[in-house]
Amino acid sequence: MKITFIVTTFGGLFLLIYLVKCIDSGKVYSGHKVLRVIPRTKAQINFLRSLHDLFNNEAVDFWTHSSLRGTPVDIRLPPGQVYRNVTSLLKGHNINFQVQICDLQSAIRIQNWNWRDKLEASSWFEKYHTLQEIFSKLEETTDRYKGRARMLTFGKSYERRKLNAVEITSTLHIPKPLVFINCGIHAREWVSPATCMYIIEQLTSQYPDDITVRQVLNKVDFVVMPVFNVDGYVYSWKKDRMWRKSRSLSPGSSCVGTDLNRNWGFRWGEPGASNHPCSESYHGNSAMSEKEVQAVAKYLESLGRRLVAFMDIHSYSQILMFPWGYTKTKSIDNEELMRVSRAMVDAIKTKGGDNTSYIFGQTSDILYIESGTTKDYLYGHLKVKYTFSMELRDTGRHGFLLPARLIVPTAREAFEGIKALVLNMQLNV
Ligand SMILES: *[C@@H]1O[C@H](CO)[C@@H](O)[C@H](O)[C@H]1NC(C)=O
Ligand SMILES: *[C@@H]1O[C@H](CO)[C@@H](O)[C@H](O)[C@H]1NC(C)=O
Ligand SMILES: [Zn+2]
Repeated sequence: MKITFIVTTFGGLFLLIYLVKCIDSGKVYSGHKVLRVIPRTKAQINFLRSLHDLFNNEAVDFWTHSSLRGTPVDIRLPPGQVYRNVTSLLKGHNINFQVQICDLQSAIRIQNWNWRDKLEASSWFEKYHTLQEIFSKLEETTDRYKGRARMLTFGKSYERRKLNAVEITSTLHIPKPLVFINCGIHAREWVSPATCMYIIEQLTSQYPDDITVRQVLNKVDFVVMPVFNVDGYVYSWKKDRMWRKSRSLSPGSSCVGTDLNRNWGFRWGEPGASNHPCSESYHGNSAMSEKEVQAVAKYLESLGRRLVAFMDIHSYSQILMFPWGYTKTKSIDNEELMRVSRAMVDAIKTKGGDNTSYIFGQTSDILYIESGTTKDYLYGHLKVKYTFSMELRDTGRHGFLLPARLIVPTAREAFEGIKALVLNMQLNV
């Protein structure tokens, strides 16, 4: 989508004409709606699950899931027969729903359109960017802060794109305990890569002036990977804004892509992932079958005990989570992870600038059972105690289509959470 502005001076009047042109032949979501359903009973939760399995993501796209009463579930529906069927099924089960997004295509159109662009010089961070723009920015940043930042490439994706990350330290000569942050494992969650880019910028540019950033970088080093699922991200820009998975082909199926956050080799293939290649949570052909997962896992393993914390950033729902995902049983670090989470969520709210509330807890308690996730692998297999995942803004008003003007506020508070993590975690105990 391209927005062209023609500003003409006309006898002292400013005449502003803007044309919105679609130059892209990607998938169109006109008339698609996002419904918000709040299950009130166990039976309603079970019904929603059966609805999910019945349609297997082909026509009905679950944006959020829940296994808790009172926690909303957002569902995208195409217009026509499917919409009529699903809404009548919901009514038949006495489940209330409301329309959260009335026309998805309009929401897609306005998401990246930042009015401020044309009124004042807005910063790079107030817009969403293509993979190419993100990679150029990484080059620029690592060139500019040479002694404190460098580019890492873990390997290539299925479609042979680079898997790039940036290492950021107080000085590159002496390795310290390391915090790994990754974004964009799910393609359509665009505010996630944008947030990683903001974090990279803050850690590099603010080091000389900001006392907290110095404190943080004197304690740990960072590696930040802004786009884990590079192929999916490119596809979400060019072809289908709602794409989530990777772009690898599955033998014997016409459906494309694996959920890279269900493919890891810890409790792989257990409940909370799908063995159906068409599902949005398809766990792949085998554990660690995906090139992206293999490459990142190899790097993480090479860090050994230097790796002390891990954060996997997603959108949306405003939730901070820690292991386990695969079981309801509490991990042995539950109390410590609760303590640090509380500090992080508190920093997000009180220092983030917008009084934003996040909830926190063990994934299986707060959301649902999931298996083969990055987080469980890091905690269970690589034994990284401070392992988290986070769902950024919002709570559903815009969902995946968070307007560009909300990128910086979202990233700013997330960065407060990351700083609180580092300042609160205990090393060498
Ligand atoms: C909708 O429901 C009708 C009647 O129950 C059924 O015949 C039809 O196959 C359903 N359509 C879809 C797309 O599920
Ligand atoms: C911040 O949010 C809390 C609810 O989480 C609310 O009670 C409080 O009034 C808010 N404070 C401000 C300054 O808006
Ligand atoms: Zn996600």
